[in-house]
Order: sequence, then structure tokens, then C-alpha cells
Amino acid sequence: MHSQARIPNGIHNAIDYERLAPQAMDAGRHAYVAGGCGWDATLAANRAAFGRWSIVPRLLRDVRGGHTRLMLGGQQLAHPFLLAPVAHQRLAHPDAEIATARAAEATATCLVASTLSSVPLEAIAQAGGSAAPRWFQLYLQPERAHTLALLARAEGAGYQAIVLTLDASIQLPSRSALAAGFAMPADCTPANLAGFPPAPASALPPGASRIFQGAMRHAPTWDDLAWLLAATRLPVWVKGVLSPQDARQLQGAGVAGIVVSNHGGRSLDGAPASLAQLPAVRAAVGSSYPLLLDGGIRSGQDAFKALALGADAVLIGRLQMYALAAAGALGVAHMLTLLVEELHACMAQAGCAALADITPGALLPCPPAAAA
Ligand code: FNR
Repeated sequence: MHSQARIPNGIHNAIDYERLAPQAMDAGRHAYVAGGCGWDATLAANRAAFGRWSIVPRLLRDVRGGHTRLMLGGQQLAHPFLLAPVAHQRLAHPDAEIATARAAEATATCLVASTLSSVPLEAIAQAGGSAAPRWFQLYLQPERAHTLALLARAEGAGYQAIVLTLDASIQLPSRSALAAGFAMPADCTPANLAGFPPAPASALPPGASRIFQGAMRHAPTWDDLAWLLAATRLPVWVKGVLSPQDARQLQGAGVAGIVVSNHGGRSLDGAPASLAQLPAVRAAVGSSYPLLLDGGIRSGQDAFKALALGADAVLIGRLQMYALAAAGALGVAHMLTLLVEELHACMAQAGCAALADITPGALLPCPPAAAA
């Protein structure tokens, strides 16, 4: 463990970790983490969507009993920030997900460990203690036996929910990562998949599509979802939902909750901002169905806007990599502490003493000219 870590000068807000990330990471790794895909249109849309809303200050309300506790999927959380599944964390720091797990424990934050983590899921669980629930993000494997092995390991290691990511069967590369000559280092390859031999490459017949008959050959279908729901005793969430129709169908299929997300702009370039889709998805599933959002959250104010527009909680993606690169576990814990405090300040100024007080009426659309 790197015990020398210090919080860098100049970090006053959580977003400062993003601003200073180019100093903490080499250019190729930074480009890989920061980038979206294609022309980065969706990446930019995620951030711009927050600029379209302003928060209405409210006066004279007594918020001295204020707090941010919530129940999510039957589990108690101290605050509505979760650590999103982010793969390959050794890119940011030698301690990788071990450091992130320690930060999660220190700040009572629910961590969602990626299938593609640099260290095994058991080591993450062991480092994370019991201050908050811990969930496992699943990519269905081409072989069902391999998926079952991952599920058994996650259940055995004490993970309390499965987050099935469905929006990444095809991921176009980030142009900036390509331009920076980024290649995944050998020590960042996914530890959880070490025992699984890669599916044998099979030549496509003449005229076949590299996408439909190639990359999508093993892509999950509704049948696979039904199989998964029967294969685990843990609640299954689905991540990567943007369509209200999909949301309703997933709810009907028995999914525990959904994550409105476009994979941080890394999956379909041209997909809408996740925040822009949130009200329609909330309307489709009703007021009490568990709903999370990620994509572009960089501040407590951003989280406030997402909660006002229908999310129960939000996930933090890139900021955790930037904070990890800057100061390891200490950096991630500090970044989360800043986010929580920014949310407290925003709630207090908007006259909200509890998350339930954050309603659509707390926001005003910005005039188009002022939109970021
Ligand atoms: C991701 N994301 C992701 N999602 C997932 O379900 N499994 C994964 O393994 C990964 N890996 C991953 C790596 C990197 C480097 C990034 C930047 C993102 C997507 C992630 O969970 C989340 O949806 C977005 O990062 C949220 O957007 P912000 O917070 O980064 O703007």
C-alpha cells in the first residue's frame, strides 16, 4: 500500500480531481479513461444536460435535522452516491480496486465491482469491510458455465446484488485513446476471467456481418435475462437503460431496479444524455421502482438535479479513477466526502432536509441561450 499518498493542492471540489487528472496519469491512460467513443457526442451530451437545469434557492426553512439516508432495494445507505463499476483500475493506481474498496468502507459507500476488475472480486470484498452494501457488476460470458462460476463467487464473497450491464456488447474505441496510442497493459487484464479460456475464434462465412454475426453472436437476449434471474438468489439490476419501453419490460420481467446510463458515453455515440432520458424512464416505471442514474455526475449539484428528475441515487464513474490516480484510497474517500458535502450544501440552500424533499419543483429549466 502506498502510504505516502497526500491530497494534492488545489482540490476544493470533487470536480477538481477531473481537472488535475492529466497531471496524475500518463497521457494514454488518461485518454482511455476520459474518452467516450466515436466523436464523443454522447460524452459531451451527458455533461451538457446538467447545464440545462438550475436549482431554485428556498429561504427560511429549518434543515437542522437534515440528512441524506435512503433505502435502496431494501438496503440502507448513508448517502445517494454509489461507486460505478469501472474496469481496469490498475490503470489509475497500483492498489487498484483494493484502494477503492477501502475508500468505500471509509465513506460508507456502496461499491459496484466490475467483472473486469484488475484484482479478483474476493479481494475487493475482503478490502471493503461491512460499512455499506457491495454489489457485483456482471457481464454475461459466452459460456453459461463461466457466468455461473462468477455468480457463485460473487454470492460466496458476500456481494448483495448483481448489476447486469447490457449496453456494451459493442463498444467503438475512443478516438482520443487511439490517437494517444493507448494499449491495455498486461497487469490490467481482468483478474476474474483468468480461468476462462477465450471463445475460439471462428471465421465468418462469406457475406456475414462482422457485427450481426460477429460481435453480437454472444450478445445477451431476453431469454438470457430470464435464465439469469432464475440462476441467482441475489436481486438483479440492469444497467444501460435509456428507453422507457425497455425499462417497463425489465420491470415486468422481475428486475430489481435499473440504472439509466449510456456507459459514460462509451457505447453508442449518438445516444441521448442519461439525464435527458431520466424523466421519461421514471414516468414509465412509476414512482416507487428503484432507479439509479449515471453519466456526467461531477458535483453534489449534479446529483441533486438527477434526484429531482427521478433518480433514487447516482453512480460515480470517471471521478473515482481520477481520485484514485491522484491519491489512492485517500483520494477516492476525499472525492466522495466532497460530493456528499456538496449535496448537503445544495439541499440546505434549496430548503431540502431529506432526499424525499428533492422534487422536480426544485429545478427550473435554463433559458436555451444559457444552456451549457
Ligand atoms: C466504465 N463503465 C463500466 N460500466 C460497467 O458496467 N462495467 C465496466 O466494467 C465499466 N468499465 C468502465 C471503465 C471506464 C474507464 C469508464 C470510464 C467507465 C461505465 C461506468 O460504470 C459508468 O456508467 C460511467 O463511467 C458513468 O459516467 P461518468 O461518471 O464517468 O461520467
